Amino acid sequence: MKSIASAPAKIILFGEHFIVYGGKAILCSINKRITVESELTKTGQIEIESSLGKLKISKSDSYKNADLVFRPIIYIAQKMLEKFHSESGIKITVRAEFPSGVGLGSSSACCVAAAGSISGLFGNHTREEILKIAIDAERTIFENTSGADCTACVYGGILEYSKDGHIRKLELLPKFDLVVANSGIIHSTNKVVSMVRQFKDERQETFSSLCTQEAGLIEDALACLQRNDLTKIGKLMTQNQEFLEKIGVSNDTLRSMISLTKDVSYGAKITGAGDGGCIIALADKTNLEKIQSALAKKYECFSAKIDTRGLEQGSA
Ligand code: MEV
Repeated sequence: MKSIASAPAKIILFGEHFIVYGGKAILCSINKRITVESELTKTGQIEIESSLGKLKISKSDSYKNADLVFRPIIYIAQKMLEKFHSESGIKITVRAEFPSGVGLGSSSACCVAAAGSISGLFGNHTREEILKIAIDAERTIFENTSGADCTACVYGGILEYSKDGHIRKLELLPKFDLVVANSGIIHSTNKVVSMVRQFKDERQETFSSLCTQEAGLIEDALACLQRNDLTKIGKLMTQNQEFLEKIGVSNDTLRSMISLTKDVSYGAKITGAGDGGCIIALADKTNLEKIQSALAKKYECFSAKIDTRGLEQGSA
């Protein structure tokens, strides 16, 4: 039997970085997915095949001996084999519909889809159990993760989230499209989070004032999302971008991408860690094409919609 699970990419509408220090963030899953298939084998090995490469490792070898990209999957496979006292190996295949390392939550979607798929080989697990395994797995490569990205991948839709475990799924979803544009600059979330920590340590008052302003902005944003007020949501995205500029996670490329959308979108900002990766621009059917043609001359971009499915599991 093959156990199959898929999980969506995510963007952060508001609150990246500030969430690491106790603030809230608003995350939105989008309709691009990672699918993981797994099956038990008799080889005693963990075998992984993905667009990022192939790996075969003995199931008793430490995940720390493998390349970073494979560590979370090995961790999940080993945890499950151990928990169910299984003698088997596992063969795992990963397929992604979106690029990795650009702020769209590929590692989280991969952790969630892998946790869903591999746990499915050993019976049913709740979404909460799968989320816990996925976050623990992500910590093998990103120790300080707030857990926000994995949570968005599991539940789908739009989520209000804080690091202490507060999760609220918005019941009334606004109607919007997003244009996601890739700067082509691969970033390391770990490195950018460390840069922000240094900023916070060196400029404590400024950082604390920005956290307070961000918290107010997020409350306004939640109200506007419920009212489907795209004009105001866009303005708040632009304001959130100013805060991200101040903590130093933007750069000339990202700024010039955002300015290309200035006259045509409701608002635009970095999504995720920044210092590279993607920007998002808020759209509806009146301006979607205009935003895409403004960006597409220089950057890879695609339109996206809110994903409401979250983690899905099945078998073949
Ligand atoms: C990364 O997608 C989001 C950050 O806020 C880090 C985190 O929440 O773990 C930068």
